[in-house]
Amino acid sequence: MIPTLEWTSQGVRFLDQTKLPLEETYVLATSYQQVAEVIVTMVVRGAPAIGVSAAMGIALGIQQSQAATLEELEADFEQIAKTLASTRPTAVNLFWAIDRMRARFRTLLAQPERTHQAITEALVREAQTMYEEDIAACKAMGAYGAALLPAEGGVLTHCNAGALATCGYGTALGVIRAAVEQGKKIHVFADETRPFLQGARLTAWELLHDRIPTTVICDNMAASLMRQGKIQAVVVGADRIAANGDVANKIGTYNVAILAKEHGIPFYVAAPWSTIDLDTASGALIPIEQRPAVEVTHHAGKQLTPDGVGIENPAFDVTPAKYVTAIITERGVLRPPYIESLAEIEAQPA
Ligand code: MRU
Repeated sequence: MIPTLEWTSQGVRFLDQTKLPLEETYVLATSYQQVAEVIVTMVVRGAPAIGVSAAMGIALGIQQSQAATLEELEADFEQIAKTLASTRPTAVNLFWAIDRMRARFRTLLAQPERTHQAITEALVREAQTMYEEDIAACKAMGAYGAALLPAEGGVLTHCNAGALATCGYGTALGVIRAAVEQGKKIHVFADETRPFLQGARLTAWELLHDRIPTTVICDNMAASLMRQGKIQAVVVGADRIAANGDVANKIGTYNVAILAKEHGIPFYVAAPWSTIDLDTASGALIPIEQRPAVEVTHHAGKQLTPDGVGIENPAFDVTPAKYVTAIITERGVLRPPYIESLAEIEAQPA
């Protein structure tokens, strides 16, 4: 199994995704501030992995708190939550995880045996439960989504929505993994995903790890491959799905969705329920993270663009719901109109 992140007795251990695929090294975050730092610098990335990292960061922060009273511990909780919430704005899983940890913390505070140690232990357990639940959700998405893929053919994916973006198995790559496990002959086309190259570096690395046939393409090659008939389906992940089914995901996803529609290719989004944000009515309201210009102007320390040129670096875009053939979740496969299918599943007991 790919060890994306792990709770240890010394802190939270992360596989350093900024160094892949050339180096397999680890970063040990020994404070909640360091967990926030690894999220900002994308040592760990991917919506579900960011959420569980934040939950572990909260558990770590509470464990190390010097609070003398429960009131001080509560103030510390809010400071820790604020720091982690300010790391990356788009993936709603981050805020979902913080809210869940806060709800657990408040329940614990209300109990008679509310010592600092008992609260810490319960919060560590909660974060570990979220870790396990994330893997189970990915496996369930895999089981639902595999049926949608062809028995044989090319599947395009964008960015990395794999084991590296989750606690294991992956969302979009989980669907592909499950299809391969069922004996389907899938060939993956991985968009390189400029500027951070999650496709070229991470998706390629993790699929080779599992011996799934994979070809990396530059982001501007997808249309041509679709026209040649090499791609039978697209599967991507999501950072936030609004109540109307609009999908925020890695910049460039919107391009792929339009291309898929033009070529009559199904466009699937795989995401756990923690990525669904029914409080946000449409994609227009989703905050889009702007990343530093240096990610575009430089690669591996080498300058690519002339000094003084203007740079844009939005990390995500929004694909309107009308381009999405189906949303694959651990609670089933949703079809349009999403405003109805999302609300219907939300109303069912989990
Ligand atoms: O900037 P990143 O690498 O965190 O962006 C990741 C993505 O856009 C993924 O597709 C998304 O988080 C889903 S991961 C299962």
